[in-house]
Amino acid sequence: MAKAKKDNGHYITRQEERAISKYNRKTTKELEAKKHQKNVDEGMYVTSMKDTNNIIEFDDLHTYFFTDAGTVKAVDGVSFNIPKNSTVGVVGESGCGKSVTSLSLMQLVQAPQGQIVSGSIRYNAGDKCYDIAKMPIDMMRQIRGKDIAMIFQEPMTSLNPVFTVGYQLDEVTLLHNPKATKEEAKKKSIEMLTQVGIARPEGVYNNYPHELSGGMRQRVMIAMALVCNPKLIIADEPTTALDVTIQAQILDLLRSVREEINGSIMLITHDLGVVAEMADFVVVMYAGRIIEMGTAKEIFLTPKHPYTIGLMKSKPIVNKKVDRLYSIPGQVPNPINMPQTCYFKDRCDRSHTACEGPYPKVTKFSDTHLVSCYLYKDTPAQENKSTEVVKDE
Ligand SMILES: Nc1ncnc2c1ncn2[C@@H]1O[C@H](COP(=O)(O)OP(=O)(O)OP(=O)(O)O)[C@@H](O)[C@H]1O
Ligand code: SF4
Ligand SMILES: [Mg+2]
Repeated sequence: MAKAKKDNGHYITRQEERAISKYNRKTTKELEAKKHQKNVDEGMYVTSMKDTNNIIEFDDLHTYFFTDAGTVKAVDGVSFNIPKNSTVGVVGESGCGKSVTSLSLMQLVQAPQGQIVSGSIRYNAGDKCYDIAKMPIDMMRQIRGKDIAMIFQEPMTSLNPVFTVGYQLDEVTLLHNPKATKEEAKKKSIEMLTQVGIARPEGVYNNYPHELSGGMRQRVMIAMALVCNPKLIIADEPTTALDVTIQAQILDLLRSVREEINGSIMLITHDLGVVAEMADFVVVMYAGRIIEMGTAKEIFLTPKHPYTIGLMKSKPIVNKKVDRLYSIPGQVPNPINMPQTCYFKDRCDRSHTACEGPYPKVTKFSDTHLVSCYLYKDTPAQENKSTEVVKDE
């Protein structure tokens, strides 16, 4: 196995390797033990929402991977809300922590190396509010797939190739509703396949996943997510593997599904076009943190952070010939050894003296529009109004 390099280009010594692995074993063992505790008092994970209009509140979430090369801070202090009946788009370059944020919400981060180390993920279950970050695994199984469902980018990795579509759909009903009979489960499965626009649901019910096209498989995945009438659907790059026409159909379907379930969607994508079409709110992540968030209007019409502005330039324009897609020059810092300053500093064309300071605090442009960047500061006399402090040099 290739040896890991440190930020200074030197290889990790054997002694360092041993120390890292000792630390990883101890830390992950403790965290795993906590998750697997039995008969935990409800008081440990029942909490209250800050705002009952939200279905989810991420609050200073930290999810790390304890690797042989050191600790990867994949999600490093992420806070945002998913309001009821809304679509929240999460965007950012590859590796910025979008999937790990959503996997944390499902308690599906790859263990033992991946662990939620601190923070809260409050889930509004109606009568109660749970902190998923502190919930034992046994309890989480009751929520996962039932109240919160997930649609993945590549359905073939989530559908089991050796079982028929019908068998896999029925299983979801039978798992979450043990009193249901096989006939009832089948009826529900056919109903769901019809709902996601499959023309011959009985035929598809008896098909194996490989007998279906990519678009059909994605519809099956959405049907599977809908079986238990979830309050929240997480869609992680749901259309990336599909061609443009099918992509538009799946997005339409997701939109109607949201209305149908009267719930919310957390939509993760690289594609700003998809977000512009679908999202009410947008969260922009960079290197494990949120650098800007706001309503879709705020982010698309008045982006503030140089990274968001750069992303906007990299958005392909339909029907317009471009020689080359704009991509922001430079690289994301090493996730094992993040700088103390703004993480975007080395790639930022607006960096200035203040940017040498600690990681920038949040500036509020409105109740919904927040930015972490030294270009702006809150104006104390006018709360919610912020000003630009540095003009283009
Ligand atoms: N199992 C793992 N072990 C170690 N590090 C991991 C693991 N899974 C993810 N990471 C790291 O966590 C960080 C965030 O990854 P994540 O998958 O959330 O990125 P992403 O924003 O979803 O990217 P993409 O757009 O490519 O899907 C990355 O630095 C990644 O290398
Ligand atoms: S804080 Fe400075 S370096 Fe970071 S994005 Fe803002 S202007 Fe650029
Ligand atoms: Mg991802």
